[in-house]
Amino acid sequence: MSAAESHERTAAAAAEVAEVAPGTAAAYLDPRYWDERFSSEEHYEWCKDYSHFRHLLRPLLSPSLSVLELGSGNSRLCEELRREGVVDITCVDLSPVAVQRMRKRLADRGLGGIKVVVADMLDLPFDSESFDIVIEKGTMEVLFVDSGDPWNPHPEIVNKVTKMLEGVHKVLKPEGTFISITFGQPHLRRPFLEAPGLTWSVEWDTFGEAFHYFFYTLRKGKRISNSSERIQSKRFVDTPTVSLLHEEMESEDYIFRITVDVDEVSKRKVEKGKS
Ligand SMILES: C[S@@+](CC[C@H](N)C(=O)[O-])C[C@H]1O[C@@H](n2cnc3c(N)ncnc32)[C@H](O)[C@@H]1O
Repeated sequence: MSAAESHERTAAAAAEVAEVAPGTAAAYLDPRYWDERFSSEEHYEWCKDYSHFRHLLRPLLSPSLSVLELGSGNSRLCEELRREGVVDITCVDLSPVAVQRMRKRLADRGLGGIKVVVADMLDLPFDSESFDIVIEKGTMEVLFVDSGDPWNPHPEIVNKVTKMLEGVHKVLKPEGTFISITFGQPHLRRPFLEAPGLTWSVEWDTFGEAFHYFFYTLRKGKRISNSSERIQSKRFVDTPTVSLLHEEMESEDYIFRITVDVDEVSKRKVEKGKS
């Protein structure tokens, strides 16, 4: 791609952001933002649609497993899971509008068996050990949008993310798997995912072409306690950080990335200047 084309693409992406994104990143934390957005928006996939990470998710699925999806919004992920043969699917979202519209859409498509519930992922209304798989795509990200320094987030952010992860851990069956599909880079997510009390092992893959999204697989009860062993485990290798200036910057994903990448980008610029 030529520099001019790249510039044009970036400008187009920025214009799209302006059209669909709220004025400030903090608005993503306001349930009214989501209600308003979902009352007119039919469909949007954060962190790409299923076709981009199917090769990673499909091997973890089986028709007999129960799946909980957090913050389903107006994504079609649950339909894809059903297409893969998963029968027991529950979606939750904080936005009543998203839930109501998702129920209608699924009913219209003859998929009324997928349960859709208004619920806060920080206070999940399910018994302990209820699900084989919990999955979130771009939803945990919402908790990080106003986190301040990504290396040292505000204490209230830490509390919320911890609460969410503890809740997910609790509703997972003893050998259940939490799947997190996110922009969140391992060096920023690992401190949360590996918090004391969370017994899951932490591995990740990446997908996407130029820009990499992260696909974390967390297997409950499989934590290797010895940290030196963990560092040697198969995929436990730090992935290169993404660049905010990347050509593939697209749509409002951009807003999320700003919150996690800005410091890293300036650090890299300084390092580059030194070399
Ligand atoms: C960035 S969107 C992701 C939507 C969808 N997962 C996707 O992949 O396109 C975040 C979603 O999480 C929902 N949400 C935000 N905070 C939530 C919370 N505390 N509990 C449950 N859902 C929440 C929003 O209403 C929205 O649907």
